[in-house]
Amino acid sequence: MDLKIKLAGITFENPIWVASGTFGTKGQEFEDFIDFAQVGAIVTKTVTLLPREGNPPPRVVETRSGLLNSIGLPNKGINSFVSKELPELKKMPTKIIVSIAGTSLKDIEKMIKKIPENIMPDAIELNLSCPNVTHGKTKYKLTAQDPQATEKMVKIAVGTAKCPIIAKLTPNVTDITEIAKAAKKAGAQAVSLVNTYAGIAIDVEEMKPVLGNVVGGLSGPAIKPLALKAVRDVYNSVDIPIVGIGGIVGGVDVAEFMLCGAGAVQVGTANLIDPDAHKRISKEFEKYLILKGIKKASGLTGKLKGGRTA
Ligand code: SIN
Repeated sequence: MDLKIKLAGITFENPIWVASGTFGTKGQEFEDFIDFAQVGAIVTKTVTLLPREGNPPPRVVETRSGLLNSIGLPNKGINSFVSKELPELKKMPTKIIVSIAGTSLKDIEKMIKKIPENIMPDAIELNLSCPNVTHGKTKYKLTAQDPQATEKMVKIAVGTAKCPIIAKLTPNVTDITEIAKAAKKAGAQAVSLVNTYAGIAIDVEEMKPVLGNVVGGLSGPAIKPLALKAVRDVYNSVDIPIVGIGGIVGGVDVAEFMLCGAGAVQVGTANLIDPDAHKRISKEFEKYLILKGIKKASGLTGKLKGGRTA
């Protein structure tokens, strides 16, 4: 079975990647369970210019319909990341995609310039969409809620980086295709969608919100149909490679995202439940391809039969 896919000019051994923030810092918690060479790519936890403490606890709550998190991008900052973590990550036998976020164009430019050429990641995922932080002075809370801000942020990243830029988009918008168009116009080589859906969990006993930061982002299988629609909408209206994210827990979920138009996918919440989720999902996906008589995984992208969504 040929699982190889090409996206943003890079060949990945497998279309199934692991999503930012769900795979430890260097995946070390998973090494007894997974052969990293079988993982399409590891997307790192988002790094910011300066260290961040993250949001007040509680930061995570399991709701009846998914995981709600308000982590708030805790990390040690880009200097520590490029000196301690990135050199180790680059030794791993898979593609490394570094996730970065910033509140200004200057932040993004400075961060990218700090990445040494000899340990350049395979790509950068520009996180324009974390629902748990404010992305600078904009009338919108998140950069990826504003097409103009998205365009400017992607443009500076593309102009500075020596590797492809994947713009990670939020579903918390009226029309995600407008944002994907802005990312494409600015030169993004791909978009990843979707980040989490903003939500609130309530502790009725205490009559207060559960999360320290009140609002969090919902992930897990509950959001999969919503994420599939976002992928299909973007596939139908913007000519840009898509990395699908949202509630993938089985091989058939991967097939659904690819049929809707994703060239690759990211597994997120499932890693937090099941440390060998990636291995199991890959095997199930291969089984699906065999059953359907499909020899190349890449042949599935966009092959959904029937009507348009947007
Ligand atoms: C977080 O750290 O709050 C989650 C990251 C994200 O949603 O982008």
